Amino acid sequence: MRKWIVAGNWKMHNTISESVRLATEIKEGITDLKNGEVVVAPPFTALQKVSDALRGSPVALAAQNMYFENKGAYTGEVSPVMLKDTGCSYVIVGHSERRKYFSESDETVNLKALKAMASGLKPIICVGETEAERNKGITEAVIGRQVRAALADVSVEMLAGLVIAYEPVWAIGTGKVASPVQAEEVHDFIRRLLVEIYGCMAEDVRILYGGSVTEDNIAELIAIEDIDGALVGGASLQAGGFLGIIGKMP
Ligand code: PGA
Repeated sequence: MRKWIVAGNWKMHNTISESVRLATEIKEGITDLKNGEVVVAPPFTALQKVSDALRGSPVALAAQNMYFENKGAYTGEVSPVMLKDTGCSYVIVGHSERRKYFSESDETVNLKALKAMASGLKPIICVGETEAERNKGITEAVIGRQVRAALADVSVEMLAGLVIAYEPVWAIGTGKVASPVQAEEVHDFIRRLLVEIYGCMAEDVRILYGGSVTEDNIAELIAIEDIDGALVGGASLQAGGFLGIIGKMP
């Protein structure tokens, strides 16, 4: 049985005090987490204070990005050692906004995923097609390329510490959530691809859906066998909406 994950990606939102307030409200709203995990990804500046605020709660901490070296002359970057130091256990890697605005490539996504796992951080590796790619009928080709590239040199033993998030680019922040059928097709495709590469161990990898998830649409998505949770942007910025999504988990 795969444990579900609901992860909130706060993106470039919230000062330190706003982040602590939101994290505290989430912590106070969560009672029992037997079958799943809740993760929040505040901006870098708030990681330490949110980590302090979450102490004693089951809510896990994630960063939204990292660099693939431990230290060095890399102005502006943050290393896995630094993230671990703040209490992070997860890191989002290859979000489509990183790919689009910050030239993240399949190759750097792979380097970051490998480095994260070597450092004891669980990467949430994001993949997704654009609207133009879907319209051209090349969704599976794009997702297949992104998944294979992200997992280059990832051994079967490393799979347990890894999460994939399918986030159709056209669904992110648009209010246009993928239909259950659209999401199911791609999740099933990713699962089959993982099984092709890794065999039956691939059944343990969690695959999250992301893109305009709210408490109103999560129920029909989580009902799908290969959807193991959600990566949530906009709806994770208010405790009520985020807790509403968590409340719909099995
Ligand atoms: P959204 O963002 O929920 O606001 O669509 C999801 C994401 O970018 O992870």
